Amino acid sequence: MKVVTCVAPVNIAVIKYWGKRDEELILPINDSISASLSTDIMCAKTTIMASPLFKENKFWLNGKEQTFDSPRLSNCIKAIRARCDGALPQFTWNISICSENNFPTAAGLASSAAGYACLVYALAQLYEIKGEISDIARLGSGSACRSIYGGWVQWHKGDLPTGADSIATQIAPADHWPEMRIIVLVVNDCRKKYSSTSGMKKTTETSTLIQHRAKNVVDQRIKTITKAILNKDFESFAETTMKDSNQMHAICMDTFPPCVYMNDTSHAIVNLVHSYNEYRKGQKVAYTFDAGPNACIYLLQSEVEQFISVVNYVFPQLAGVEYYRGLSLPNKQLDQ
Ligand code: PMV
Repeated sequence: MKVVTCVAPVNIAVIKYWGKRDEELILPINDSISASLSTDIMCAKTTIMASPLFKENKFWLNGKEQTFDSPRLSNCIKAIRARCDGALPQFTWNISICSENNFPTAAGLASSAAGYACLVYALAQLYEIKGEISDIARLGSGSACRSIYGGWVQWHKGDLPTGADSIATQIAPADHWPEMRIIVLVVNDCRKKYSSTSGMKKTTETSTLIQHRAKNVVDQRIKTITKAILNKDFESFAETTMKDSNQMHAICMDTFPPCVYMNDTSHAIVNLVHSYNEYRKGQKVAYTFDAGPNACIYLLQSEVEQFISVVNYVFPQLAGVEYYRGLSLPNKQLDQ
């Protein structure tokens, strides 16, 4: 019997991935950048057991048994096993996978990213695979490739039709910008109405704005925000982050029929952040929204107390205000 347990971080994109050029291989139409959150508070955790005594493969997610032959799970397992030394005894054993997230699943908080990154990382430990695995995590959920690494991470869209160069790399480690903090304003922790997969598919088929974004916008933003991260220039980082979130949701509105992820409270948070920044005479706080109504707020430690007190005053009805101290260290395997 062989057992591995791993944890992987949630990542929050500042330059968004939205739209695929290949649905099957999950190849994006543009590069994206995110930060991985500290796994101390918010993470996915996966234990995989392999044994010659197991009669079949099994998979549990958050305590509920799932089918083992979902296409994405199968694709990840197939791709990992293709890199494994077939002479290892565990190669022929059946496995039981037990995954859990300690945060709301499918509420736009990137649960699938942490989940698939963790699964692929744990499979790599089980089958003793060294080297690049972010391209395999990508087959589970595109943004999962970024959760393979800690700190600031870029997913390169790549050019090859095989997807071999559509991988993630680290721009800067977690301790590069130690003052950076993230707050998640939980507007709603229900499952989202349209999955990011169906939303993106509809966008790619119907939006004309998305072509403009891919051709004329993202490459420059990737350069600007990388420079801002490396120079710890919060003003430039914040402006680029907010503009990119706004563009992703504009593209969702340009989808036909429109994909609406933000709600009235999300828009009120956007207004609050802009009023706060105007009052503070600079971009002190940045919002970003994924495929859901919850706001992820990037800010520096010096701003946290004042901003949280304003949020609590203006939005006493929020489902939750969650505060993350810092960014994640690299993915890790826990001691047994
Ligand atoms: O990896 P997916 O299919 O869950 O897509 C996630 C896309 C966004 O979270 C909305 C943006 C991003 O870059 O993470």
